[in-house]
Amino acid sequence: MSALEIDQLRKTYQANSSLKVEALKGVSFDVRPGEIFGLLGPNGAGKTTLISILTTLEKPTSGDARVFGVSVTADPKKTKMQIGIVPQEIISTGFFNLEEILIYHSGYYGIRENRERIHHLLDRLKLMEHKHKMIRQLSGGMKRRMMIAKALVHSPKVLLLDEPTAGVDVELRNQLWEFVRELRSEGVSIVLTTHYLGEAEALCDRVGILSKGELKYVGPTQDIIHKLTQKKITVTNHQGEKITFSIEEHQDFGKALKDKNLTLDQIQDLNVAEGTLEEAFVKVLNS
Ligand SMILES: Nc1ncnc2c1ncn2[C@@H]1O[C@H](COP(=O)(O)OP(=O)(O)O)[C@@H](O)[C@H]1O
Ligand SMILES: [Mg+2]
Repeated sequence: MSALEIDQLRKTYQANSSLKVEALKGVSFDVRPGEIFGLLGPNGAGKTTLISILTTLEKPTSGDARVFGVSVTADPKKTKMQIGIVPQEIISTGFFNLEEILIYHSGYYGIRENRERIHHLLDRLKLMEHKHKMIRQLSGGMKRRMMIAKALVHSPKVLLLDEPTAGVDVELRNQLWEFVRELRSEGVSIVLTTHYLGEAEALCDRVGILSKGELKYVGPTQDIIHKLTQKKITVTNHQGEKITFSIEEHQDFGKALKDKNLTLDQIQDLNVAEGTLEEAFVKVLNS
């Protein structure tokens, strides 16, 4: 069974009395158990809207989404239990310290005795020594980790991360991805929205590309790269001249050299650059 089934989702916002915004125009795709799925798209594509429907913060205009077969519109109480959300905006007000927030948040899910899980998360996210601090006393990176701890108190099977690395430094970004991979190895399904294509390429098993409320592409990350981009070959000869050309993923390399009248004894150096998800993404958006 799919972890998530997004089924013909439409969302129209009434921005004001005369203006309607079609944020999602009938989007369908699946997320499999234990995969990292990247929901990609430029600003305004509809990523946050889709995430908000999954967490029942917004209602779809039509269509539905199911979490392990359970509808978010028909049975929101049940689906909320299966989902953890790390929102795009970090909220840093409040009167409680980290540990208290996590205890309170567990209560929201009806979990009374959750000390072990909370301490496990504080420990894993390197927040244990800060557990008596208020959120506003934390650095940006710690706040982000706290949001993740909060999203995981009820051991959800699906974790949604909305732009988790916007404005985050490289070191924290790497820690975050290591942690996300660990969660995947424990069987958690992860959906992350991002417009950093390099990180999506490194991290996501599959991606969906959203543009102006429409899903333009969905599939394994490597497939889209192979289908839509070319390899760039640079050959340097013994005179130091560089010859550059591109070949398709499936194209025969030896034949390509022959077509260029290049023989092995002429080659001093050779560089092959694979296509990138960024190139594929640009192609999808311009098609
Ligand atoms: N509450 C809202 N009221 C009206 N329009 C909205 C609302 N939320 C989002 N939108 C509009 O819906 C579109 C999609 O927005 P959003 O889902 O936030 O995109 P993304 O997260 O991909 O940047 C945008 O045009 C945005 O302005
Ligand atoms: Mg967004």
